[in-house]
Amino acid sequence: MKAASVQDYRRLAKKRVPHFLFEYLDGGSYEEVTKKRNRTDLEALALRQRVLRDVSGIDTRVELFGRTYEMPVALAPVGLAGMYARRGELQAVRAAEAAGVPFALSTVGVCPIGEVAEAADEPFWFQLYMIRDRSFMRDMLALAREAGCSALIFTVDMPMPGSRYRDYRSGLAGESRLSGNIRRVFQAMRRPRWAWEVGLFGRPHHLGNVAPVLGKNSGLEDFMAWMGKNFDSSLTWQDLEFVRDNWDGPIILKGILDPDDARQAATLELDGVIVSNHGGRQLDGVTSSAKALPRIVGAVGDQLDVLVDGGVYSGLDVVRMLALGAKSVLIGRSWVYGLAANGQAGVEHVLELIHEEMLVAMALTGCISLADIDSSVLDNS
Ligand SMILES: Cc1cc2nc3c(=O)[nH]c(=O)nc-3n(C[C@H](O)[C@H](O)[C@H](O)COP(=O)(O)O)c2cc1C
Repeated sequence: MKAASVQDYRRLAKKRVPHFLFEYLDGGSYEEVTKKRNRTDLEALALRQRVLRDVSGIDTRVELFGRTYEMPVALAPVGLAGMYARRGELQAVRAAEAAGVPFALSTVGVCPIGEVAEAADEPFWFQLYMIRDRSFMRDMLALAREAGCSALIFTVDMPMPGSRYRDYRSGLAGESRLSGNIRRVFQAMRRPRWAWEVGLFGRPHHLGNVAPVLGKNSGLEDFMAWMGKNFDSSLTWQDLEFVRDNWDGPIILKGILDPDDARQAATLELDGVIVSNHGGRQLDGVTSSAKALPRIVGAVGDQLDVLVDGGVYSGLDVVRMLALGAKSVLIGRSWVYGLAANGQAGVEHVLELIHEEMLVAMALTGCISLADIDSSVLDNS
């Protein structure tokens, strides 16, 4: 099958990676109500078709945190992404560079910051979770600085992880080490290409940035247990000072859904916020990103750059989010489906598809630059 859309890549990804990995990527928390809302609320936004407006010179370039990118789409931080293709984060950062968009490396990525920096020619973004051990945090920020990361995403919507039922059903969570391993090995055997390329030759399969503190205990269960124990649930607004003191570049706060929180963020020395419900993977039942976005833009859009993610699967969705006031979007699952299906080429193609879809959406809403995209491109009748 030749993929013509992100949804096609999703179908291919399902056939290429072991069941537990597909479920980890595809799933949301609890009953996945918010994950579904992210899609349905976006899809419900009708675009307004306009014609005869000379759309021959469309420009999708955007300036974000001091750098210019080819389109307002960034690869969101995704933990364990490196399991979806051999040294997956390296393939993804190269794809992002080829497309001229930012790549964000997760704290809990498979490849450590230094390895990604070696593969990258351009600065990438680094995403940080607050870990109890502040010296570990300082070291990680120092590594990100050494690696030349151009922005820091600080994720604040995970004081504790939401439960994802699919991970229990698939054998990723809630199993003893032995039975979990057996289930996962059987699933990997049904995906021989993945087992060969990633299972065998993609090692080490650990969370590269965290591995030094775990020493020998570096099985998947050890990492899951470490995250549960070490993510700092006592985090407050005051702790942002710690981050600010240890990072002098742009800081983007990720996981804002409420205008009051956005207003509080705007009082601090921050550069942007990402309106996000973590792709419907944390508090199930919260509002969709598309619903939250205009309220947050209304509250702080003149003070901070407002980015958004959640349910963006096409260039049409990108235009919808921009019409709601976002400066740029991030895509999570969409790029990892491409990575799982066809490595770097898959991610590059996903980005190419999204760009082409954006061009069509802009042409038919009569927009030639991003500045033209506002609420008037939505049919509010
Ligand atoms: C498998 C998976 C792992 C994720 N890991 C992280 C992470 O390590 N750090 C983070 O800030 N967000 C993480 N996220 C959330 C994404 O950055 C992003 O907010 C979300 O995927 C956007 O929704 P979408 O997948 O519908 O595009 C993860 C999302 C997925 C699907």
